[in-house]
Amino acid sequence: MSDLSTIESHAHEGILAKPSGTPGSAAELAIVVPTFNERGNVAQLVLCLERALEGLRWEVVFVDDDSPDQTAEAVRAIARNDPRVRVVQRLGRRGLSSACVEGVLATSAPLVAVMDGDLQHDESILRDMRAALLSGSFDVAIGSRYVAGGSTGQWDGRRLAISRFATALSHLVVPAGLADPMSGFFMIRREAFMDSARNLSSIGFKILVDLFASSPRPLRFIEIPYRFRDRRSGESKLDGLVAWEYLLLLTDKLVGRWVPARFLSFAFIGGLGVFVHMAVLASLYRSAALAFVPAQAVATAVAMVFNFFVNNSLTYRASRLRGWRLLPGLASFMLACSIGAVANVGVAGYLFEHDQGWVPAALAGILLGAVWNYAATSFYTWGRRA
Ligand code: GDD
Ligand code: MN
Repeated sequence: MSDLSTIESHAHEGILAKPSGTPGSAAELAIVVPTFNERGNVAQLVLCLERALEGLRWEVVFVDDDSPDQTAEAVRAIARNDPRVRVVQRLGRRGLSSACVEGVLATSAPLVAVMDGDLQHDESILRDMRAALLSGSFDVAIGSRYVAGGSTGQWDGRRLAISRFATALSHLVVPAGLADPMSGFFMIRREAFMDSARNLSSIGFKILVDLFASSPRPLRFIEIPYRFRDRRSGESKLDGLVAWEYLLLLTDKLVGRWVPARFLSFAFIGGLGVFVHMAVLASLYRSAALAFVPAQAVATAVAMVFNFFVNNSLTYRASRLRGWRLLPGLASFMLACSIGAVANVGVAGYLFEHDQGWVPAALAGILLGAVWNYAATSFYTWGRRA
């Protein structure tokens, strides 16, 4: 029997014609859970959702950034016995916000919640969030620590102060009436999400700030109090670099229409590189260890290495190079920046010869070099196609 007739006869027997799962049983609510090293928490989270959402048609999509602790495999083990559970596993990338976006895009449910995978968010308010959205009066329902009845749990004074400061800053781009824009726990109507989706910066941790700042019209929101629980298993991924990404996000929302925030970050770090250069040059040349030209060459190389590593951690944290990939990354970075330097000197020299004055000539050369270095290294060194 040919393949085609096998298929036809199976179809005739109803094997292909009737997919498993009944039409009409699609989820009305999807929970998107970003994870990185949460192996010890995922099974418990699914149980909590099962209890909290009893009687509803729901599904959960874990978006895992290839966690070394094999979180994705742990989810698959559950998913084999529970079709409501799925995993999107991303390779070679990191980032809480971008993970949430991809999780939402991987579902069809008309209501979507975003929730941490470490049991710190209280699943029992999901029903209230859903009811609020179904009432038709709101686009987004936010789990809030900063309205009456909500609490940050056992946070120390330092983390509280940082959170409050970050919240105050967020009001540059989100409505003043929103008490907890830093929340990573909310439910949104799909249409409202899709209206903002293409404007999202997807940088860093603060997806809700991004959503509010990216929406073409004001989002109608309600805050529902909950108490932030303590983490029992695994550890927080928040660190000092998250603060830098947060500033990048705010910058992108404020000026990104005209200048990409990553370019500003790149240029700022380039500015720091000038100080590194001068410090190395001074110590080599002034101490008479080297003549000027070799000292200048060494200082240039050191500044490039410095710029590469700082950009790798700050500007390109989400696609950061690690391990042996650092070597070709550094090589392509130094090559691109050398070409940038030649272009810089060439253009500055040309303008200078055409009587543009030495300051404008130098600045034009620097601007051209910076734009070239940014564009070339974002493409070749960090492999960003956009
Ligand atoms: N896919 C992916 N990629 N997930 C990540 C990444 C990443 O790079 N970094 C963290 N996560 C996952 C964690 O595994 C966890 O499920 C969730 O995102 C939150 O990360 P935590 O490291 O536990 O953050 P937190 O508890 O300090 O802060 C969270 O709660 C705050 C209060 O709601 C975050 O959600 C904050 O944005 C939020 O303000
Ligand atoms: Mn957490």
